[in-house]
Amino acid sequence: MLIQTQDLIKIYHMGDAEVRALDGVSITIEQGEMVGVIGTSGSGKTTLMNILGCLDRPDSGSYVLAGEDVSRHNKDKLAHIRNKRIGFIFQSFNLLPRISAQQNVELPLQYAGKSDTHHLAAKALEAVGLGDRMHHEPAQLSGGQRQRVAVARALVNDPDILLADEPTGNLDSRTSDEILCLFEDLNKQGRTIIVVTHDPEVAGRCGRTIRMKDGRVFNGV
Ligand SMILES: Nc1ncnc2c1ncn2[C@@H]1O[C@H](COP(=O)(O)OP(=O)(O)OP(=O)(O)O)[C@@H](O)[C@H]1O
Ligand SMILES: [Mg+2]
Repeated sequence: MLIQTQDLIKIYHMGDAEVRALDGVSITIEQGEMVGVIGTSGSGKTTLMNILGCLDRPDSGSYVLAGEDVSRHNKDKLAHIRNKRIGFIFQSFNLLPRISAQQNVELPLQYAGKSDTHHLAAKALEAVGLGDRMHHEPAQLSGGQRQRVAVARALVNDPDILLADEPTGNLDSRTSDEILCLFEDLNKQGRTIIVVTHDPEVAGRCGRTIRMKDGRVFNGV
């Protein structure tokens, strides 16, 4: 078992009001699965991804990642685990605008204190078919190419888990198919992939889906 959560609760306070963004989420995900997370807007999908990706902590409940309970870890410890195990892909790519594709992919390597970052970034870009676009800045790339740079950046530290939040939300259907094919290849190589999506086509290509509603997992009809 790679991921196991038990009764995750996350409450946001807005003045006097509270939003129970996660209201008792218990899930398990095995190494090598490709899982879709679906549900209406505001149902807690991004909140859950942020916790699974060690960007945030639950208010209560446990999260065991690769045998280690990380739910009470402080920021530094979470950052360390994130660097080692997790790659993120976002809907809006989140690339830095004024530097090249290659420099964008180098950043996580530099944070991790790796050497030979230039060469490793080039290899990661070649792996997503962008060997001939390394020196382009994000604005000089198409949407699909930008997302492939983001995939290369997410993978360059060789994480166990790839977390993607609406990775095809800004892409046309052909380009989104390209990104999905890339995910399927990575999954066949044994990588665990969790993908939040509104798109039934994307969800259909996952091994299974987790449906969220009002901060809970809801797999009934
Ligand atoms: N930083 C925050 N402060 C206060 N409330 C928040 C915060 N982040 C999220 N929420 C609230 O928590 C709930 C869950 O939000 P979340 O972003 O997880 O939803 P989502 O399922 O990802 O939605 P979408 O499909 O629109 O991205 C929402 O009601 C949202 O308004
Ligand atoms: Mg969201």
